[in-house]
Parts: sequence; C-alpha cells; structure tokens
Amino acid sequence: MHVTIEPMQVCHLERVVAIEREVYPSPWSKNAFVNEIMDNGLASYWVAMIEEQVVGYAGIWTIMDEAHLTTLAVCRRWQRRGVGSLLLDRLLVEAKALGATRITLEVRVSNDKAQKLYKKYGFMSSGLRPNYYHDEDALVMWLDNLLP
Ligand SMILES: CC(C)(COP(=O)(O)OP(=O)(O)OC[C@H]1O[C@@H](n2cnc3c(N)ncnc32)[C@H](O)[C@@H]1OP(=O)(O)O)[C@@H](O)C(=O)NCCC(=O)NCCS
Repeated sequence: MHVTIEPMQVCHLERVVAIEREVYPSPWSKNAFVNEIMDNGLASYWVAMIEEQVVGYAGIWTIMDEAHLTTLAVCRRWQRRGVGSLLLDRLLVEAKALGATRITLEVRVSNDKAQKLYKKYGFMSSGLRPNYYHDEDALVMWLDNLLP
C-alpha cells in the first residue's frame, strides 16, 4: 500500500465529500471545502491518495503561533492502516513550518478512536465545550510545545 499526501485541490472534492458523508453525522458541503482551499488564507488542507484515489483528508488553520485542526477523516475501507497518522504527521509538520507552537482540536466525547489517535501524539484533554455539536459535547484537546 503506497500512500501519498498531497495538497487538497478542487479536483479532489468529489471524493472528499463522499468520505465526509460516509464518516461524519453532520458532513461539510463541497462549497465549504471550496471556500477553505480557495479563499481561506489561514487554511492548509491535505489529501491522502492510494492508487490515484483520495482515501482521506485533513486540515488546519494556523493563526500566529496556534494551529487549529479542523478536520481529519479516512474512508472506512482504509481506516486502521496508518493513513490517519500520516495525515496528522503532515498537519504537524505544516503547523510548525507556519510558526505554530501549539495545536488544538475539538472531538466528540464519544469518539474514542480519534481520541486514542490524538493521545498517541501527545494531545491532552483540556475541558469540554458543551453542545459544540448539535447533539453532543466536544472534548477540547491541546498539543503544546510543537518544536520547530
Ligand atoms: C480517526 C481516524 C481519522 C483515524 O484514522 P486511521 O487511518 O484509522 O488511523 P490510524 O490507522 O493511523 O490509527 C492510529 C491510531 O489511532 C487509534 N485508532 C484508530 N482507529 C481505532 C479504532 N478503530 N479503535 C481504537 N483505536 C483506534 C489507535 O491509537 C491507532 O494506533 P494503533 O493502530 O497503533 O493502535 C478515522 O477513524 C476516521 O476517519 N474516523 C471518522 C472521522 C473522525 O472521527 N475524525 C476525527 C474527527 S476529530
């Protein structure tokens, strides 16, 4: 299995949105991704490709010395094979390159597998954001001391 991580482009969005609908209860629209990659100067989005097909994607906003992970997803068929970790590796490299010293994210309180992934990378829980999702609270996590 050969995975490449590439900058997200409009041509990837059909697959991105298909994965979005597969894995998230409240999926982002294609337009939301178009705005992120075309108009949001703070955003960096990446796709994971296997044999020329998008199998996952992830993004951050970087504002001054803080990065915010906005999304990370892998299609069901390719989960648990290291693709999510490769995407997270790229986000951390990018965040550091853009000057971030820490990174934060929100994750559903029920999302054990994502929390496990983030903890493996050293993210620590720092509290709850009640009703962050329409049907659930979010756990806020931080990874401090991103080294250059
Ligand atoms: C979370 C997600 C991106 C992980 O992607 P992935 O490619 O499956 O992750 P990896 O194979 O790189 O796994 C890395 C680590 O994550 C954790 N993990 C991933 N899937 C897991 C599962 N099903 N059960 C328990 N731990 C899991 C483990 O710690 C794993 O490390 P290990 O294999 O050494 O035990 C993927 O499950 C996904 O897309 N979920 C739906 C969308 C989502 O919830 N995104 C997070 C939003 S905050």
